[in-house]
Amino acid sequence: MGSAKDHKDHKGASSLRFDRKVSTDTDPTSWSFQILLAMVFSVLFVGVTSLFYSQAAAAPGSTSANLASFIPTERTIALKGALNNIGPNGSAVPGAGAGFVVASPSKQDPDYFFTWSRDAALTMKMIVDEFILGESQLQPYIDDYIHSQAVLQTTTNPSGTFLPAGLGLGEPKYQVDGSRFNEAWGRPQRDGPALRAITLITYSNWLAENGEKERAKNVIWPVISNDLSYVGQYWNQTGFDLWEEVQGSSFFTIQNQHRSLVQGAMLAQSLGVTCTGCDQAPELLCFLQKFWNGKYIVSNINAQTGRSGLDGNSILGPISIFDIDAVCDSPTMQPCHSRSLANFKALIDSFRKAYGINNGIPLNLGVAVGRYTEDTYMGGNPWYLLTTAAAEFLYDAVAQWKARKTLVVDDTSLAFFKDLYTSITVRTYDSASDDFTKIMDAITAYADSFVAVAQKYTPPDGSLAEQFNRNTGAPLSAKDLTWSYAAFVTMAERHDGQYPPSWGTRDIPAPPSTCSGTSTPGVYAPATAAGAPNVTTPCQVNVVFNVNASTYYGENLVITGSTEDLGSWNIASALPMGSGGYTSERPLWSISTYLKAGEQLTYKYARQENCGQPYIYESQDRTLTVPACGGKAITVENAWVGPTGNSGNC
Ligand SMILES: *[C@@H]1O[C@H](CO)[C@@H](O)[C@H](O)[C@H]1NC(C)=O
Ligand SMILES: *[C@@H]1O[C@H](CO)[C@@H](O)[C@H](O)[C@H]1NC(C)=O
Ligand SMILES: *[C@@H]1O[C@H](CO)[C@@H](O)[C@H](O)[C@H]1NC(C)=O
Ligand SMILES: *[C@@H]1O[C@H](CO)[C@@H](O)[C@H](O)[C@H]1NC(C)=O
Repeated sequence: MGSAKDHKDHKGASSLRFDRKVSTDTDPTSWSFQILLAMVFSVLFVGVTSLFYSQAAAAPGSTSANLASFIPTERTIALKGALNNIGPNGSAVPGAGAGFVVASPSKQDPDYFFTWSRDAALTMKMIVDEFILGESQLQPYIDDYIHSQAVLQTTTNPSGTFLPAGLGLGEPKYQVDGSRFNEAWGRPQRDGPALRAITLITYSNWLAENGEKERAKNVIWPVISNDLSYVGQYWNQTGFDLWEEVQGSSFFTIQNQHRSLVQGAMLAQSLGVTCTGCDQAPELLCFLQKFWNGKYIVSNINAQTGRSGLDGNSILGPISIFDIDAVCDSPTMQPCHSRSLANFKALIDSFRKAYGINNGIPLNLGVAVGRYTEDTYMGGNPWYLLTTAAAEFLYDAVAQWKARKTLVVDDTSLAFFKDLYTSITVRTYDSASDDFTKIMDAITAYADSFVAVAQKYTPPDGSLAEQFNRNTGAPLSAKDLTWSYAAFVTMAERHDGQYPPSWGTRDIPAPPSTCSGTSTPGVYAPATAAGAPNVTTPCQVNVVFNVNASTYYGENLVITGSTEDLGSWNIASALPMGSGGYTSERPLWSISTYLKAGEQLTYKYARQENCGQPYIYESQDRTLTVPACGGKAITVENAWVGPTGNSGNC
């Protein structure tokens, strides 16, 4: 019953338009499917009515001549657009705290006025790269970010506390002042700590090379160390993917986690400190190989999704771990890897058929690219950041072949190349050959054609929303999406031959021949030198609450109770429960949390249909005494007692 359970966790049917991401794993007999159908029809209807607008908004078709002027012009707009969304001075986000990157100024339909750890880290990585490339005025943004994240790491949130076990680091998003976000959501998400570590390591390497090694070691390393501890401890547990829909193992997450540990180990060595968790890197590299199904990369595994697995996840990963110095058969799965190329073709071809605006575009030209073809969020449309990511991926691959002075075409990658250079065969092309030059030119032209698609659907003022309509090309969903801007800038860097420093892929040991699901217990400490409050560890014991509660699509469960950990009976501070284990055999809602050792508490469960209806409480109070300090983790098994919800019809 894939569907209902996946939705309950963080989004209800009626809030489809308001929530950021919505699961689409549908069972045609389920409630959710029928509601989704209704939603899809209403979205289609909206699509038709916006046709006239879109034709006015979409710029005319482009040539490579106007692309050459479009890219630098839009790059300037995009960098400014990203900075406008960063506190405290960002003109589009009044109220945001210093160093907090807001996802979009949009406060309704959809409400993205939050700071996501993933979006923030990717944006700050772009800013660090721009800074290293010479934009020295960006340094205050980086310094603010370091401070904001040091504080954020210690903030108790629904994913858990920072101490003793780092659980709070898996929280996907916060309010724009850095305070906790209390509602149900797809949590934890384990890419945030890895991406933040990559950003801060890249900056620390620059500091170390520019006479500020002590600052890197004393101020920034403690922040990085917490994030790497989290990666080393939890990489082998499932979490939500970058679209916040699928609970499983995500290619994008594992690939970035692996990079963070490799790069972290090298920085630790240069600073003379210890990296807890970095020893896990070979196991992540081993696991990363399991996403390949013989034809393409299955973006989410250890999950029941009912999808093909073709997902923009698998091009965002390779461009995020791109290393100009890498060899193409590196198991890190660089853009120039044969499997990455075969996957690229399979993914892009899936969108050729999916979207009306891609109709009739030949195989050697780029198209509009979305998240995955089964997507229905906001009607399931192409995204700017994925369309420019496709271009960036190809620029990366070309740069790698040129740097290696060789191109190896094998049976796996042949079909990718055939679309672009029909006479290509399985062999090695040396860079001195005429063919090599022509092939590189053909792939560069292919990359340019994806940028041209993004250009075609960019309004005249250069603003980038999240998506554009699959049939009309009209911009839609959140306006001025920070990630869309960041993605444009990194694509423009690659187009202009600008590459981030190598992260050491050449020196990586081969993965073990047999993979193991291992974990290194993390060491967590507040990064006080960077501004974190000196939080201490109350003695806590891990308590898992499991409750059997059959729920309707869109209904969410919380646990509320008498102690501060459980919100002191204030329903707004209750802890949201997860439905990741919900099946037709067992309607399981669960939360793993840490409670003060020895405390006695009263609690109950409450449910709410996600259309703003009042909470429905259990009809009885329950009691629990948490084991004494040093006690073993306990699991509490309950079954819902009291009135049940209704379908809500909302
Ligand atoms: C924000 O504005 C203040 C006051 O003008 C300035 O000191 C600070 O450097 C600015 N921050 C950033 C990140 O530009
Ligand atoms: C844990 O690692 C093992 C070995 O690579 C793998 O088979 C398993 O799927 C992983 N599970 C998760 C949830 O990462
Ligand atoms: C933080 O608190 C601990 C325990 O109270 C103390 O030992 C330590 O010195 C404090 N650190 C800082 C930087 O104040
Ligand atoms: C919850 O459901 C499972 C599966 O039906 C059952 O085995 C278990 O006993 C139930 N737990 C409680 C507390 O009722």
